[in-house]
Amino acid sequence: MYILLNGKFKQKNEVSIDFEDRGYQFGDGVYEVIRVYNGSYFAMKEHMERFVRSAKEIKIVLQNTAEELTAMLNELLRKNQVQDGAVYMQITRGVTGRKHLFPGQDVKPQIVAYPIPCSKPAAEQEKGIKLHLMEDVRWLRCDIKSLNLLGNVLAKQEAFENGAYEALLHRGEHITEGSSSNFYGVRNGVIYTHPANNLILNGITRMKVVELCEKNGLTLIEEMIKADDLVNLDEAFITSTTSEVIPVIEIDSMKVNGGVPGPVTRELQRLFEEMID
Ligand code: PDD
Repeated sequence: MYILLNGKFKQKNEVSIDFEDRGYQFGDGVYEVIRVYNGSYFAMKEHMERFVRSAKEIKIVLQNTAEELTAMLNELLRKNQVQDGAVYMQITRGVTGRKHLFPGQDVKPQIVAYPIPCSKPAAEQEKGIKLHLMEDVRWLRCDIKSLNLLGNVLAKQEAFENGAYEALLHRGEHITEGSSSNFYGVRNGVIYTHPANNLILNGITRMKVVELCEKNGLTLIEEMIKADDLVNLDEAFITSTTSEVIPVIEIDSMKVNGGVPGPVTRELQRLFEEMID
């Protein structure tokens, strides 16, 4: 497997990461996961824009333009002959002695990108999944795709230990998102999802779902859902790069739509499938 490390392609066994990398010590960096369908990236432009924005928000100065990075990622795909899967890319603030303060200009950010296996979660997409509700204890900049994923990791694990596929996070009385996905509720044919502000990651799949709704006459409103109102939902679903669109049929002990995927969710799954084909 070829790995892209700071603009150079290397074999996996030629790559070593310094133990003083700030990504390793502080989680001081940002990342993207980009899906590959039929040998091409899906929504590369949107992923690259979010990557550039995330880096800017944490004041990492990219050494390459978005166009240069895209060309390198395309070459990575070609060299590894990826047909179906995903590419993981991360940038950290660089390698230096452990100090909280940013290092000087001489310390360059470290970029690494490589293919990761990814296949459709077909069973979940077909049958639907269970969520486990819990408090969102993450920081107030969830719009940045930060390497600091402790809040997300702990939530996913707790969900798993409660027999759920994904966590459903609430900040006070409002639902925010999943541990690695966006959440949507459907009521009287209208789809509701948290506004794209500092409290959630503006998912690329979410952007595509918003687009699909606009193009196909489905009503989607960016409005917070109250945890107390979950019981009134007709349908629910989650989205992410790796999940695509997955119906939610249970939230803890509560069934959604009698425990089967609903028609609006099914329609979005169909539209999404059509788009990636
Ligand atoms: N996670 N919200 C959070 C907290 C996420 O981590 C993700 C993605 C999403 C959905 O974003 P997108 O549609 O762009 O994948 C929402 C990725 C897949 C991950 O960390 O593996």
